[in-house]
Amino acid sequence: MHPFSLSSLAKENLETHLDLPSGTIDHRPRVERRLSDLKGCFRNHEAYEEALQKEDALIYAVTSVEPATGDGQMHYGLGILYPGKIGNEYYLTKGHLHAHRVAAEVYVGLQGEGQMLLEEEGTRESRLLPFGKNTVVYVPGHTAHRTINTGSDPLVYLGIYPSHAGHDYLPIAQKNFRMVVVEKDHRSTMEIR
Ligand code: F6R
Ligand code: ZN
Repeated sequence: MHPFSLSSLAKENLETHLDLPSGTIDHRPRVERRLSDLKGCFRNHEAYEEALQKEDALIYAVTSVEPATGDGQMHYGLGILYPGKIGNEYYLTKGHLHAHRVAAEVYVGLQGEGQMLLEEEGTRESRLLPFGKNTVVYVPGHTAHRTINTGSDPLVYLGIYPSHAGHDYLPIAQKNFRMVVVEKDHRSTMEIR
């Protein structure tokens, strides 16, 4: 029997259930990111410190499903990114490159409205793509990706990626993204950091 065959995988790995309002999947492990985890992500450091003094708010959570790990296998995660702003910058995810750089990812928007900021590692070319309910974004390999909630409801989405993708947060922690997404005249707009 192949280690990743239909008969080797338990039913709970073949079928799961999404709960969009809470952004959870059955009783799968859920990682929460609070404002204190996002130090350095926002351009306006003063506004960040001020908001943190008030409350270490929950910004987003990711629930992961990892049915099998190995060549050809897939993992997926359900993200819920809450609405809000630090100064005029919308709530966002930390953002990362995949440790296995060639690994791509498919993002499927399920609820809410936002954007995805992509930045190619070598050239640092940026793309800001509308992302939300019924939108699918393909994130190529070698591309840093960050999710941004520009709406007033939680942004809920699935990220589906090769099991070997992994996360590399270091380049973003060191250099951040070149671009920021801010609210200006009641619209979201991209600016150089
Ligand atoms: C997985 C992936 C998503 C993110 C999630 C949270 O490769 O891209 O599931 O992990 O959007 O963002 P980060 O990981 O940047 O905190
Ligand atoms: Zn990813």
